[in-house]
Amino acid sequence: MLSMTDTPSNAHTALRLKAVQHGPLSGNAKIPGDKSISHRSLMFGALAEGETVIHGLLEGEDVHATAQAMRELGAQITRDANGTWRAKGVGIGNLQQPKTNLEMGNSGTSTRLLMGLVATHPITATFTGDASLTKRPMGRIITPLTPMGATFEASEGGRLPLTVHGTDEGQPTHYHLPIASAQVKSAIMLAALNTVGTTTIIEDHPTRDHSENMLRYFGADIKTTSQEGGATTITIEGKPSLKAGTINVPSDPSSAAFPVVAALINQGSEITCNHIGMSPTRNGIYTTLQEMGADISIENARSEGGEPIADIIVRGTATLRGIDVPASRVPSMIDEFPILAMAAACAKGTTRMTGLAELRVKESDRLLVVAEGLKACGVNLEMGEDSLTIHGTGTPPQGGATIDAHLDHRIAMSFLILSTVTEKPITIDDASPIKTSFPDFVDLMNGLGARIETD
Ligand code: S3P
Repeated sequence: MLSMTDTPSNAHTALRLKAVQHGPLSGNAKIPGDKSISHRSLMFGALAEGETVIHGLLEGEDVHATAQAMRELGAQITRDANGTWRAKGVGIGNLQQPKTNLEMGNSGTSTRLLMGLVATHPITATFTGDASLTKRPMGRIITPLTPMGATFEASEGGRLPLTVHGTDEGQPTHYHLPIASAQVKSAIMLAALNTVGTTTIIEDHPTRDHSENMLRYFGADIKTTSQEGGATTITIEGKPSLKAGTINVPSDPSSAAFPVVAALINQGSEITCNHIGMSPTRNGIYTTLQEMGADISIENARSEGGEPIADIIVRGTATLRGIDVPASRVPSMIDEFPILAMAAACAKGTTRMTGLAELRVKESDRLLVVAEGLKACGVNLEMGEDSLTIHGTGTPPQGGATIDAHLDHRIAMSFLILSTVTEKPITIDDASPIKTSFPDFVDLMNGLGARIETD
């Protein structure tokens, strides 16, 4: 068995992996906890009064970075032997000055949300990250937090390493998001918690709303109203008293998308993924795959802790067909374009994806890395500034390329999934970042019948 856990991100050895064809997949895929909800469980638990108990936390490197940062900021975060996590909170306004830099590894979500948290506490904190994270823009967080009273010393281009000087006299703000970003929205919401008064955020396109739902559950006063034309106004009252609670983290719909697409492109497969988060702000990939003709049944739809949950049954029964993906759907599947591109490369006909500018500033420039990688595998495509058009033939591409994953977990997993059906195996130069979000990916896929191995 390949072990993908416990290698510190700053000292990792490259893990070259490939997948070889190995027939249909079957079984139950136990998908790990939702990454976005896991980060927020630890952060909000650390701010609440009392002990928050978290079941099903994602134990990936990104979430470990958040856990460690919350400890540095004064919360007690522990893990029981049975995998239950506990956060003993300090109460809003009571975070402490960290003694060391906050090491964020590969995690943009940890960095951006915690910048918001620190901004309205009298704390100075320096955020550092790996070679991927230090390329990512933080100006989008600095801009709204500056009028709230924080000051910043960033590296060139508004990047990490970056120091936040927070204030205990934060000012409420009124901010219209210029980009569809749940990270920016959440950073402002976190800053608003320790700020007297009402903070207002307007988003033109709905992005994942876990911060809103979870903070409400913890007792914050948050109102969401829909405007004519589709925009949403979110108001948050400062200085709430957050009360600890119990959280059951749903399984991550973004992680589930990898075995789901694998089952769809390996004819004759049938897999089940239980307890998957099905928030309409997250499930665009499933709608899109169904429009491509995928046999996906969403069953046992239910609600848990304010989040919609369902079980998914996927059968690889038909060749997918190319479609136009509406740009309005992009925020609800922002992390799924690399894996969708793999499905499109196996589909019959043309798949057009537009409105993808944000893909260029993820863990890698996903638009470029996907386009170059697929081209090297023999796929006919065109890439624009913010668009990707893939012409599928209805049979898997040839493969045979080596992909530079650029420290991007989703690039590594996407090409490994494609490699399960290509004539020649695709090699990933370094698949170790998979452990940021899906530590058991290789064992899980191989347990379903794939063959992913070291190269
Ligand atoms: C996330 C929001 C998204 C997503 C990221 C997780 C979150 O980023 O890409 O993986 O947990 O808030 P943006 O909000 O910047 O698009």
